[in-house]
Amino acid sequence: MSSRRNFLHLSGSVLAASALTPLLYSKLHAGVSQNDKIQVALIGCRGMGFYNLEDHLKMSEVECVALCDVDDKVLNERAAKVLELTGKSPKLYKDYRKVLDDKDIDVVIIGTPDHWHCLPTVEACQAGKDVYVEKPLANSIAECQVMLAAARKYKRVVQVGQQQRSGQHWQDVVALVQSGKLGTIRKIRTWGYFEYGKGNPKVADTAPPAGVDYDTWLGPAPKTPFNANRFHGSWRHFWNQGGGLMTDWGVHLLDIPLWAMNVTTPLSVMASGGIYAYPENCIETPDTLNVLYDFGKFTLEWDHAGGIQKGIYGRNYGVAFVGNNGTLVVNREGWEVIAETDNKNAAKTELIPLQPSDPKDHEKHVRNFIECVKSRQQPICDIEYGHNSALVAHMGNIAYRTGNKIFWDAEKGKFKNDEKANALLKPNYRSPWKFPVV
Ligand SMILES: NC(=O)c1ccc[n+]([C@@H]2O[C@H](COP(=O)([O-])OP(=O)(O)OC[C@H]3O[C@@H](n4cnc5c(N)ncnc54)[C@H](O)[C@@H]3O)[C@@H](O)[C@H]2O)c1
Repeated sequence: MSSRRNFLHLSGSVLAASALTPLLYSKLHAGVSQNDKIQVALIGCRGMGFYNLEDHLKMSEVECVALCDVDDKVLNERAAKVLELTGKSPKLYKDYRKVLDDKDIDVVIIGTPDHWHCLPTVEACQAGKDVYVEKPLANSIAECQVMLAAARKYKRVVQVGQQQRSGQHWQDVVALVQSGKLGTIRKIRTWGYFEYGKGNPKVADTAPPAGVDYDTWLGPAPKTPFNANRFHGSWRHFWNQGGGLMTDWGVHLLDIPLWAMNVTTPLSVMASGGIYAYPENCIETPDTLNVLYDFGKFTLEWDHAGGIQKGIYGRNYGVAFVGNNGTLVVNREGWEVIAETDNKNAAKTELIPLQPSDPKDHEKHVRNFIECVKSRQQPICDIEYGHNSALVAHMGNIAYRTGNKIFWDAEKGKFKNDEKANALLKPNYRSPWKFPVV
């Protein structure tokens, strides 16, 4: 590609000897210059990854140069779509490490299942690439921690796919909570009632479809026979690949209280639930779960149900900040404030009827990332925020799986006096994959 590549390929001694002009100096340190095309590769192309790429391609400065997937069918279909959208054929890879070796690539978008976020992100940071990685940041707490360390050590821009942070209406809600108008907030409810959370009817194991490198799809996760229910899209219901509704939707919704209340991790977590409603289905994660977090000054509830869609406040999912003066209810469809009243029926705060949502949040999120790739600023959902909400979501699952009330030691980054909970912090990577060291 461009002059930038040639410039970066100059040897260190040439650079040291030359009197760097401010422009060249800023180019060297800014990563991508204002004039260059930003060369993007997508790893994991089937679902959300491709949606992310499509929004990247709405920006004239972005070029898709490569696609990577372990499924030939997905790879070929997505390559044809990129050709249709851009007039150019991307390079195709089945091994993400080849993408990271490609010096022309500035940015990788990671749209793989959750168990496949950590290694490509860490190695992309080590290879000097910026990363747009899907949520939840990873499938375990230890993976989130090492990814954050890598982003910081290698000074990379890492945007996490929690696009609500870019939505104007979520920003308005956070400002209203922080204004104090709702009064003291003593509890926050988050909930997700989704049909897909019940899993699918059981089907027999089979051979993997032709053209699928199933061993690489499993990657660092334990070897399990191929089953269509544990593969594309539905891996979310199995612990080795995902964390069920708790992490799939939990990270989006728990992120809002963490942001509005300016907190990171809770003091303690308790959970109850099970596969109560659809025991006949093929699913490992609970279809029914209630989690209670204590942050010292307020409680935070997570409540999920798979297979039903009528949640509280007339919404199947959302966040409710319960204040002394009123309750603010929000989801992707909009927000409102339900005013509290005193004994004489006088409202304690202004009743705010349903306010519209921001349909452009995802596009803005992608644009913010690309702007930050150029400016080297932290993106709006910097990896630290993705890390925090993933930790809180994983804690819900760990409380459920241990049956314990668990206590977090924020300084040590593990649970206090709880071997059972600490054993669930980090997955055992299957050889030849190695847990990354940063
Ligand atoms: N931000 C959002 O609103 C949002 C919405 C949906 C999904 N997501 C997230 O996006 C991610 C992907 O979810 P999905 O529903 O698109 O999953 P999916 O199963 O539909 O697609 C994942 C793709 O990754 C490929 N893949 C797996 N391992 C790979 C590897 N090692 N190298 C290259 N490709 C590999 C698969 O073959 C598949 O094509 C998940 O982390 C999910 O939580 C985010």
